[in-house]
Amino acid sequence: MLPASVLLSVLAAVASVATAADSSLASANSTNSCSMSTTITAASAISQLNSCPTLDGQITISGDQVGALDLGNVQTIAGDVSIFNSSSITSINLASIANVTGSLLMSALTTLNNIQLLKLTSANKLSFVSLPSLASLNLGSGLANVTSLTLSDTALASIDKLLQFKTIGVLNVNNNKNITSIDLSDLSNVTEGLTLSFNSDQASVKLPNLQSAANLTIQDVASLDISSLQYVNGSFILGYNTFDSVSFDSLSSAGSSLQVFANNDLTTLNLPNLTQVGGEFRIFNNSLLRTVDIHNLKTVKGAAALAGEFGNLNWSGLGEVDGDFSLSASASNFSCSQFDKLQSSNKIKGHNYNCSSPSSTSLASRSGGSSSTGTRGSGSSTSGSSQGSSSASSSKKNGADYLAPGFLLSAVGAVAAALV
Ligand SMILES: *[C@@H]1O[C@H](CO)[C@@H](O)[C@H](O)[C@H]1NC(C)=O
Ligand SMILES: *[C@@H]1O[C@H](CO)[C@@H](O)[C@H](O)[C@H]1NC(C)=O
Ligand SMILES: *[C@@H]1O[C@H](CO)[C@@H](O)[C@H](O)[C@H]1NC(C)=O
Ligand SMILES: *[C@@H]1O[C@H](CO)[C@@H](O)[C@H](O)[C@H]1NC(C)=O
Ligand SMILES: *[C@@H]1O[C@H](CO)[C@@H](O)[C@H](O)[C@H]1NC(C)=O
Ligand SMILES: *[C@@H]1O[C@H](CO)[C@@H](O)[C@H](O)[C@H]1NC(C)=O
Ligand SMILES: *[C@@H]1O[C@H](CO)[C@@H](O)[C@H](O)[C@H]1NC(C)=O
Ligand SMILES: *[C@@H]1O[C@H](CO)[C@@H](O)[C@H](O)[C@H]1NC(C)=O
Ligand SMILES: *[C@@H]1O[C@H](CO)[C@@H](O)[C@H](O)[C@H]1NC(C)=O
Ligand SMILES: *[C@@H]1O[C@H](CO)[C@@H](O)[C@H](O)[C@H]1NC(C)=O
Ligand SMILES: *[C@@H]1O[C@H](CO)[C@@H](O)[C@H](O)[C@H]1NC(C)=O
Ligand SMILES: *[C@@H]1O[C@H](CO)[C@@H](O)[C@H](O)[C@H]1NC(C)=O
Repeated sequence: MLPASVLLSVLAAVASVATAADSSLASANSTNSCSMSTTITAASAISQLNSCPTLDGQITISGDQVGALDLGNVQTIAGDVSIFNSSSITSINLASIANVTGSLLMSALTTLNNIQLLKLTSANKLSFVSLPSLASLNLGSGLANVTSLTLSDTALASIDKLLQFKTIGVLNVNNNKNITSIDLSDLSNVTEGLTLSFNSDQASVKLPNLQSAANLTIQDVASLDISSLQYVNGSFILGYNTFDSVSFDSLSSAGSSLQVFANNDLTTLNLPNLTQVGGEFRIFNNSLLRTVDIHNLKTVKGAAALAGEFGNLNWSGLGEVDGDFSLSASASNFSCSQFDKLQSSNKIKGHNYNCSSPSSTSLASRSGGSSSTGTRGSGSSTSGSSQGSSSASSSKKNGADYLAPGFLLSAVGAVAAALV
C-alpha cells in the first residue's frame, strides 16, 4: 500500500496526466509510454490517458463521471489496467489495443453494455467479472494467444469465436447465464485450470480435442463432448451437470483428485481407461447413477468414497487404496466381497474401511482393530475423507469462488480510508 500523502499528490496530479512525468510515481520518458500508478475518475484525465500509445504501471479507472470510456488510441497495455466500480460507464473503446502484456481487468460495471477490442490478438491476463449488462465483447477476428481469461457474471450469449488457440493457462467461464454453447474445439492443452461452471442450465460444451488439463471443473452443463481427454494432472470436478451419460474413453489418470457429485440425471459414468487417481476419489449424490465402469482403475493414492445405487459397478481391476475406503451401495444385488478381500489383504490401507449394501455390511477401523499398525495410521491421515466434504461444498452454485471483485473492492476501500 502506498502512503496516503503520496496518493493524495497523485490524485491531485490526475487532472494533468500528461505532465505526470514530474510526479514521483509517474514517468513518461519516451513518447511511446506512459507509466504511472494512479486512480482516475475524471473524464479529462481519461482523455489524456488516451494520448498514450502504451500504458504502463498500475492504472485504475473508477467512478460515475464517465459514460463512454474512450481509450481508442491506446495500442498496448504493458502494465495493469483495472476499470471498476462504475454505474455510469456504458461502453469501453479499446479498439486499437493489439497486445496486453500485463493485465486488463474490468469488474463491477453495472451498466457496461459493450467493449470494443477489435485488434486484440494476444494477452497475458484478461478478466471480465460482474458486468451484468455486457452483451457485446467485440474481439474482431478473435484471440490467438491468451495466458489467462476469466469471464464471470456477464450477459454475453456466446464466446465461441473469441477463443481460437490450442493452449491456455487459465480459462474460467462461470455464471454467464446467457451462454448456452461453449465451443472450444481448438483447445488441446490447459496448463493451469479450465473452469466451465454455472452458465446457462442448457449449456452445451464442446472440447473434442482437449487432451490435457492441469485442473478441470465442469459444472451445470447439459451436454459435454470431451472424448480426447487423456490427463487431468491436478483436480477434476464434475458436478451439478444434467447430462444422463458421460464417457471419458481416453482418460488415463487424474493427478490429485477426481470428484463426481450431484449430477442428478447421470445414469452412466464410463472411465474405462482410468488407471490411477493420485489423491481423493469421490462419487456421491448422483441420484440416478447405476452403471459405473472403472474396471481399469488400479490405484487410488488418497481416500476413496463412493455412494450410490451401483447395480452395475465394475471395479474389477482395483489393486490398492492408500487412504480410507467407503463404499455405500443401495442395489440389492451389490456385493462387497471384492473389497472385503482387498481390505483383509491390506491392499486398502486407510484407517477406516466401510463397505455396505443391503446384503452385506463390513466395517473396520485399523486404529481399533487387531490389524492396526502405526505406519498405516499415519499414511491415511493425509487423505482422510473429511477433505471431501470441504472440497464439495466449495463448489456451491453461487460461484463465489471465482468472483474477484470482493477482493478489489476491499483493496480500494482501504485506499479510500487512507485518504480520509
Ligand atoms: C524509462 O524509465 C524507466 C523507469 O521509470 C527506466 O527503467 C528506463 O530505463 C527509462 N528508459 C529510458 C529510455 O529512459
Ligand atoms: C506483445 O508485446 C510484447 C512485448 O512488447 C512483444 O514481445 C510481442 O511480440 C507482442 N505480441 C504481439 C502479438 O504483438
Ligand atoms: C439474456 O437472457 C435473458 C433471459 O433469457 C434475456 O431476457 C436477455 O435478453 C438475454 N440477454 C442477452 C444479451 O442476450
Ligand atoms: C503467447 O504469449 C506468450 C507470452 O505472453 C508467449 O510466451 C508465447 O510464445 C505465445 N504463444 C504463441 C503461440 O504466440
Ligand atoms: C501441455 O502444456 C504443458 C505445459 O506447458 C506441456 O509440458 C505439455 O507438453 C503440453 N501437453 C500437450 C499434450 O500439449
Ligand atoms: C499432464 O501429465 C501428462 C503425463 O504426465 C503430461 O504428458 C502432460 O503434459 C501434463 N499436462 C499438463 C497440462 O501439465
Ligand atoms: C490446480 O488448482 C489448485 C488449487 O485450486 C492449485 O493450487 C494448483 O496450482 C493448480 N494446478 C496447476 C497445475 O495449476
Ligand atoms: C488407453 O490407454 C492406453 C495406455 O495408456 C493408450 O495406449 C490407449 O490409446 C488408451 N485408449 C484410448 C481409447 O484412449
Ligand atoms: C449431497 O446430498 C446431501 C444430502 O441431500 C446434501 O446435504 C449435500 O449438500 C449434497 N452435496 C452436494 C455437493 O451436492
Ligand atoms: C444387479 O441388478 C441389475 C438390474 O437390476 C443388473 O443390471 C446388474 O447387472 C446386477 N448386478 C450384479 C452384480 O449382478
Ligand atoms: C468389467 O469390465 C471388463 C472390461 O469390459 C470385463 O472384461 C469384465 O468382465 C467386467 N467385469 C465384471 C465383473 O463385469
Ligand atoms: C463504488 O462507487 C460508489 C459510487 O461512486 C461509491 O459510493 C462506493 O464507495 C464505491 N465502492 C468502492 C469499494 O470503491
